[in-house]
Amino acid sequence: RALSILTEFEEKCGTPSSKLKQVADAMTVEMHAGLASEGGSKLKMIISYVDNLPTGDEKGLFYALDLGGTNFRVLRVHLGGKESRVVKQEFEEVSIPPHLMTGSSDELFDYIASALAKFVATESDNQHVSPGRQRELGFTFSFPVRQTSISSGTLIKWTKGFSVEDTVGQDVVGELTKAIERAGLDMRVAALVNDTVGTLAGGRYNNPDVVAAVILGTGTNAAYVERAHAIPKWHGLLPKSGEMVINMEWGNFRSSHLPLTEYDQALDAGSLNPGEQIFEKMISGMYLGEIVRRVLCKMAEEAAIFGDTVPPKLKIPFILRTPHTSAMHHDTSPDLKVVATKLKDILEISNTSLKLRKLIVEVCDIVATRGARLSAAGIVGILKKLGRDTVKDGENQKSVVALDGGLYEHYTKFRTCMENTLWELLGEEASENIAVEHSMDGSGIGAALLAASHSQYIEVEE
Ligand code: BG6
Ligand code: GLC
Repeated sequence: RALSILTEFEEKCGTPSSKLKQVADAMTVEMHAGLASEGGSKLKMIISYVDNLPTGDEKGLFYALDLGGTNFRVLRVHLGGKESRVVKQEFEEVSIPPHLMTGSSDELFDYIASALAKFVATESDNQHVSPGRQRELGFTFSFPVRQTSISSGTLIKWTKGFSVEDTVGQDVVGELTKAIERAGLDMRVAALVNDTVGTLAGGRYNNPDVVAAVILGTGTNAAYVERAHAIPKWHGLLPKSGEMVINMEWGNFRSSHLPLTEYDQALDAGSLNPGEQIFEKMISGMYLGEIVRRVLCKMAEEAAIFGDTVPPKLKIPFILRTPHTSAMHHDTSPDLKVVATKLKDILEISNTSLKLRKLIVEVCDIVATRGARLSAAGIVGILKKLGRDTVKDGENQKSVVALDGGLYEHYTKFRTCMENTLWELLGEEASENIAVEHSMDGSGIGAALLAASHSQYIEVEE
């Protein structure tokens, strides 16, 4: 019985190339629709107001805040201009207490601002901004925001584990600025960016061929550089560069081609945001472990794989995290020792047979493989939209996709599968012109770079 549940799950999760190509095409179609009109697609295709990516000339001392991944970070970045680039970067990581993720807006932003104030207080003598200058900050806020300028935007909805109702519809820069004032700090938010946009900016700073950025972490999303005249819903002035960075919010993508299972549907129904972020719920780190748990639960209930009763811990949503399933998936010991330990430590299940442990690894593999292959299809969708998915004769155009996020960084099998799938879909020869690159913690630096290029003092210096 357990095997038949497994086989059925595997079939439903199937992602042959043909299906992935349909997913990629659907992504391209939705990108067009989302650019055509507001509300034209599940893909919001948010205009970021970033129409100039870093050049390397950025100079000065800037702060950055990075909220929305596993950890909240504050950074101080010293930019040295063309010659010396990033001279120094320091950061501190603070975890957000879970009760603040579902509390009130003031509490959340006060917590952030006070962490920022503490960090600013550690400035050494040579780290002050020039006399008479206000400190400036790039704010990476990794949630869907309707940008109203480079330094303002209203929260459309929370995603991942956050649900602070009174922030929805508010200008998040306004919320942060008020909290900064309450904390007694004098600091101006110069740029508000999504983590994908920050990663794109950070990636471009290091490599001029970067055209898109993808986050595979707690959540998943992508941003890319679009031609401004290919954005019908943009009624503003055409930027001088002719370009505009678009935050796709691809986590909310959905298509009839997605291999959804009963477990995905149940996960969605019980989530903080039912009906939303369907692509994200099949791919990202917040959810992979939970899908595995749901499959194991069904096997426990219907095939008694853990004995007569369902282990009580196994019934607790989100108890099995993606780092745990990743550890089990990578277990190379002959008797699957790591699997046994995880089962014992997290789910209080002991005395499992080797056969059962193998079955569990198999479930992890199916879930991770589907997520990795779907994310590759998403990337192909972007490359298609840009006309960069095929190698054109005589052209030597390079396209680099910057990647970041804990899932990509730490889940080796996921990353390898994602990359292999890219070449499977694009053809091996594409790897001559297309590359994926880990842009480590690029989004914090990216936000600092964008704060620099949108500094209130920029004209004075020019
Ligand atoms: C980090 C970026 O490296 O990756 C963050 O700097 C981003 O901005 C994060 O949100 C996503 O990863 P995770 O795994 O922490 O959600
Ligand atoms: C979620 C957020 C999105 C973010 C992504 C990765 O999908 O909605 O804004 O970029 O997670 O952190």
